[in-house]
Amino acid sequence: MSKMKVTSGMRPTGDIHLGNLLGALDNWVSLQDEYDCYFFIVDWHSLTTPGGNGAVGYENVESLKANVLSMAIDWMAAGLDPERSSIFVQSHVPEVAELHLIFSMVTPLGWLERNPTYKEMVSSYAIESPSYGLLGYPTLQAADILVYRGDYVPVGKDQEAHVNMTRDLALRFNNLYGKDLFPVTEALLTEVAKVPGLDSVDRKMSKSAGNHIALSLSEEQTADKIKSMFTDPVKIRKDDPGHPDGCVVYAFHQIYNKDLTGTIRAECEKGARGCVDCKRQLAESMNRALRPIRQKRKELESNPERVWDILAEGAARARKVASGTLREVRETMNLPERRNNHG
Ligand code: AMP
Ligand code: TRP
Repeated sequence: MSKMKVTSGMRPTGDIHLGNLLGALDNWVSLQDEYDCYFFIVDWHSLTTPGGNGAVGYENVESLKANVLSMAIDWMAAGLDPERSSIFVQSHVPEVAELHLIFSMVTPLGWLERNPTYKEMVSSYAIESPSYGLLGYPTLQAADILVYRGDYVPVGKDQEAHVNMTRDLALRFNNLYGKDLFPVTEALLTEVAKVPGLDSVDRKMSKSAGNHIALSLSEEQTADKIKSMFTDPVKIRKDDPGHPDGCVVYAFHQIYNKDLTGTIRAECEKGARGCVDCKRQLAESMNRALRPIRQKRKELESNPERVWDILAEGAARARKVASGTLREVRETMNLPERRNNHG
């Protein structure tokens, strides 16, 4: 029996941080044996917003290619395995663009206008004149998923509306043309609680907020980030009793020192542990956990050609599947066949 398919993508925003790793990538890595996986870096999607302030967008394309490479390196360093999964760049599969065009004919404008992420993006990036591509963001995402006939999409809660629209579009297409061509796609919500930012347990770690720890940092830089973490403001001296629940350092001990949290909490509350030592202990554990990833990252970084080759192999595998889907789509819609046999 053939495996069910998993598809997911990330925008090439630059360095991956602990939020991406713990909230998404670790989960992708664990899905690789059970499913036929397609993981892609969505360079086209990164052009839906204008960019600026160091972020890629249609007005700021300088670092796009470098970001794609860096993301591929992070993914593989974290354990995505090109032998088991297809790892590639979205725009290397032009069939995605063709399917996006076809889907754009059957996507009701109302669905796009009602999409909550569209409104959020327009306001959070303060976009004065949203583009046609931004409005169509979920249609492109649906093409990303359905071109490989993805059954499951591992994403965070923020992406749920997009995956639901993908499913609605698949059903609409199947109904319009009387054929079960596309699967009923489902989100696989990542269960990991939100990873907090350096500044507060109530804020999400994110690159745009600048409260993140990138995988690419050195061990010293990581220790410095940990020194800057928000701790209990009323614990001033080492022997003052502390309140671990609002403390970012404690939140990360719950991830990196799971077995010690009982002791850490008790010592903090009793005033038997100071923040300086507590941070030093966290830096050691976090750096130990990240060491193999960083090591692998260095190896891959030293050979970018090899990484581009891997991405090219991934795209070639993905295109085989995608061109089969497109052939069926064209046939189903009575588009005249291409006699040249090129896809
Ligand atoms: P983004 O860079 O926001 O597009 O996120 C890429 C992936 O990482 C998505 O699946 C997010 O749900 C996940 N992610 C990003 N930041 C966090 C965070 N602070 N905690 C948990 N997951 C996150
Ligand atoms: N919109 C997703 C995000 O911002 C990225 C993405 C694009 C995606 N295409 C996808 C995710 C297809 C899953 C499947 O995180």
